[in-house]
Amino acid sequence: MTREQTRSSKAWYNALSRYYDVLVDPFQGRLRRRGIDRLGVSPGDRVLDVGCGTGRGVATLQNAVGSDGQVVGIDVAEQMCRLTRDRLDDEDPSAVVCGDALTLPFDTDSFDVVLASFTLELFEGDHRTTVLDEIRRVLIPRGRICVISPSTASKTISPLYTRLNDVFPTLVDSRPLDVSAVLAEAGFETTQTQIEWALVVPVELVVARCGSRT
Ligand SMILES: C[S@@+](CC[C@H](N)C(=O)[O-])C[C@H]1O[C@@H](n2cnc3c(N)ncnc32)[C@H](O)[C@@H]1O
Repeated sequence: MTREQTRSSKAWYNALSRYYDVLVDPFQGRLRRRGIDRLGVSPGDRVLDVGCGTGRGVATLQNAVGSDGQVVGIDVAEQMCRLTRDRLDDEDPSAVVCGDALTLPFDTDSFDVVLASFTLELFEGDHRTTVLDEIRRVLIPRGRICVISPSTASKTISPLYTRLNDVFPTLVDSRPLDVSAVLAEAGFETTQTQIEWALVVPVELVVARCGSRT
């Protein structure tokens, strides 16, 4: 994602924000909840939700970590951040950060767990690597990540989905990836992986641990 792509992604998700829960969440919500279950978040954990959208994941995670834990959602689209803030009981302004996953505004080793639900596929090659490097930096050593993304691993991506991607790249805004392979390349060790379906799209749910930093 170049700076220009960041700008257009931001504009697109700001425009989509008010329809997102009605149009998109019915297909993605079930998989996000399953991914959060797989993460096995514990009370007291510090969790980052990258590309938090309308904040449903942040709300679920807050229940899991309890009052001793901390959940931060980051999103580049201001309207998504506003919807997340409106959803949360939490008055803590640091629970929602409007910012770019390419340059995470957090200290090294700030989080025990990261969720990236339907976010990593928005980034092209080099920028995906940068986002994963940033996630590794802010995660503690052996910290956990769950990535939920359209996958190339099943080899059965529907021709309709491929065609839609070609014709309406902004609308679909998705570059399916081999999630486990991409995570391995970025220095994560996969502990669980599963293919699920969102309509015609194979989606990979992967839980992985941060390998040691060199
Ligand atoms: C497909 S939505 C997924 C939302 C949410 N994670 C979910 O599971 O419902 C992708 C989100 O990533 C955000 N996003 C796109 N580019 C981003 C970037 N460079 N940094 C942070 N967030 C970004 C979008 O604004 C959007 O809210």
